[in-house]
Amino acid sequence: IRRKKKTVIDHPRVASYAFCFDIDGVILRGPETIPEAAPALRMLNGENKYNITVPTIFVTNGGGKPESARSDDLSKRLGVKITPEQIIQGHTPMKDLVGVYKNVLVVGGVGNVCRNVAESYGFEHVYTPLDILKWNPAVTPYHDLSPEEIAAAKDVDFSKVSIEAILVFADSRNWAADQQIILELLLSKNGVMGTESTTYDEGPAIYFAHSDFIWATNYKLSRYGMGALQVSIAALYREHTGHELKVNRFGKPQKGTFKFANKVLTHWRQGVLDQHLKKLSINDPNSHEADILINEDGDEIINQSKLETYDSESDEDSAAEIEIKEPLARVGNEDKIKLELPPASTVYFVGDTPESDIRFANSHDASWHSILVKTGVYKAGTVPKYAPKHTCENVLEAVEYAIEREH
Ligand code: G3P
Ligand code: MG
Repeated sequence: IRRKKKTVIDHPRVASYAFCFDIDGVILRGPETIPEAAPALRMLNGENKYNITVPTIFVTNGGGKPESARSDDLSKRLGVKITPEQIIQGHTPMKDLVGVYKNVLVVGGVGNVCRNVAESYGFEHVYTPLDILKWNPAVTPYHDLSPEEIAAAKDVDFSKVSIEAILVFADSRNWAADQQIILELLLSKNGVMGTESTTYDEGPAIYFAHSDFIWATNYKLSRYGMGALQVSIAALYREHTGHELKVNRFGKPQKGTFKFANKVLTHWRQGVLDQHLKKLSINDPNSHEADILINEDGDEIINQSKLETYDSESDEDSAAEIEIKEPLARVGNEDKIKLELPPASTVYFVGDTPESDIRFANSHDASWHSILVKTGVYKAGTVPKYAPKHTCENVLEAVEYAIEREH
């Protein structure tokens, strides 16, 4: 056993647990911000009596805008810096389909926004229902394109294009036209408009960004969401073909989205730790030198409960050798200790919709802790279809509950 110097930094601290928020019904109601949301986010940002920063991400089934637009909007509303890396929208995991399909029809959202988002993900040829209506307005007899819609649409001959996948990115702004076009493509030969399959197995694949049947807006009753459109399309398909429609689903509560969220959360937690490390230095006023005991393998004989930085064995390059200790696990045994992030000890997931949020948080990993709030779809006094681990009035109560439970 020998001694070496290390620098201990008492704060700021980064929590080993994390937070994940639903947006509609928790942070927002339609265009309005739920008043408790801003203090809740400030609390996670270090404004709490433990002076601890809690890594936080958002998983919404909503979409229809770039992740950067969503994060800018949330930053303004909440008075806390939110970055695009913290945002998972319903369509965000559809990035994984880039390279699988070349020609895609993107449905939903306003104007060309979803087309632009899909292109920013890397999709090569992105078409919209408006492009199809511009090509041939007779596709939907009762919808006349406005001059703005004509200007936004591409000029494409859809009798020569094979749509390989329909991606419903965001809520449809025109159910009648969108349903007509989606059904025609599903029943087509190889996704070519104006063709009809007799076997009904030659059409494009269809993906939905989520399956929320209802969602919470600033109207007093919940409104129909993308899940309702999905039910409607499946019913029309069944009526027409006698077959069940095969649907691919993203969003909560799907496992694919959970895996994606976990990946994003790990990355974000690492980023938060790195940020803190960057701010810290040997000369940090909150740091002090301490002797530590090292065994013959170079392992420190200690508890691992603090955020710490290390000097290397050699004094010359100590600044370059700073490594974070807790809550990282050891993966190497060299002079410079290499460390890697273990999973969050607990992930608190705050949502308002039992069928998507609570089911999502309860189904995939025991370390996720579901909290149901009463500011959205769920109404107090009813029995939620999926039971949360905890129920709160609002998002601020949820954050207070979790922080107290942890300390
Ligand atoms: O369209 C959005 C809505 O269905 C739900 O959004 O944030 O509650 O998952 P969120
Ligand atoms: Mg919600």
